[in-house]
Amino acid sequence: MATAEQLKSLIRSHFSDEPERFFTIVLQVAAHEAQKGHGELAHEIRKLVDKARKQKGARIIKFPQDLKGLVLSEEPELSKSALVVPLILFARIERIIQEYKQQHKLRKHGLINRRKIMLIGPPGTGKTMTALILAHELHLPLNIVQIDQLVTKYMGETSAKLRQIFSLLQRDIGVYLFDEFDAIGGERSLDNDVGEMRRVLNSFLQFIEQDTSGSVIIAATNNPKLLDRALFRRFDDVLYYEKPDLGECKRLIQNILRSFKPSKFPWKAITSECIGLSHAEIDQACMDSIKQAILSDKRKVNAALLRQMLQERQNAHSGRKE
Ligand SMILES: Nc1ncnc2c1ncn2[C@@H]1O[C@H](COP(=O)(O)OP(=O)(O)OP(=O)(O)O)[C@@H](O)[C@H]1O
Ligand SMILES: [Mg+2]
Repeated sequence: MATAEQLKSLIRSHFSDEPERFFTIVLQVAAHEAQKGHGELAHEIRKLVDKARKQKGARIIKFPQDLKGLVLSEEPELSKSALVVPLILFARIERIIQEYKQQHKLRKHGLINRRKIMLIGPPGTGKTMTALILAHELHLPLNIVQIDQLVTKYMGETSAKLRQIFSLLQRDIGVYLFDEFDAIGGERSLDNDVGEMRRVLNSFLQFIEQDTSGSVIIAATNNPKLLDRALFRRFDDVLYYEKPDLGECKRLIQNILRSFKPSKFPWKAITSECIGLSHAEIDQACMDSIKQAILSDKRKVNAALLRQMLQERQNAHSGRKE
């Protein structure tokens, strides 16, 4: 049985509408039961929590009519184990997850979990993927703000739309991704600025500064030079993504090929073909060679073929004719 303290905490967290805290205490009860040798009960409790969290995450937001098409909502199923990044970056992503999950502990000391995050890096290195993973790991819906639409289709009323989005994120907790953020994050002093963009950026700065919602706000860009300096200090974290080094290429290929990887693999030759490619390009080359293996009824990927696929990506990358 749960202790009296645990029961009281459960009731308190339920009525204070802090679902993550509630889940944490339930999991403590499960751990307590496991310690007492009630393994099956502990397992059942954990399963109930998993299910409830999933259902909670599955609560896809009903957007107000006039935000339709501007914010797309999904429920990603992508675990953090798929992400291949340097350990230091991984640890910083893990810190966002842990601070979110244990935000009640921080709150008790007047502290807030980090939740305003900027992701910077070249195309195909895992920025959008990180947003998907955070949503999945935090059991929250992922809401992607279509910035290009915001600045083209709604030119003139962009700030008003942003205001609506920020009040939505207050009402419906989730991970909100402002992808290709440089479209609004451009340097405020740029000469070719049309004034409207400056106003939009000012509104964004104001909204993000004032935001006290429980949502996780992510802005992603591959063009940091265009970003206004004033933006950076509004974020709790600025994470930099890079193309994979040789070790990361190997990890990535292993992750993708899985059972299609032959037991002997000329890693040196293969990773040397990866230099300069992004994770996304290596991913594509691996998937192409898996397809080839399947079509020719092979159980394993052919190393020479994978090298050729990587080479293809290199050529596409450098614009060279094959
Ligand atoms: N760090 C990574 N680890 C594992 N797979 C990756 C990584 N980065 C990219 N990929 C693979 O490439 C795909 C595209 O990556 P993603 O959309 O995250 O790129 P991005 O950084 O957002 O690029 P862009 O700047 O073009 O939006 C992912 O869905 C995944 O399959
Ligand atoms: Mg992206």
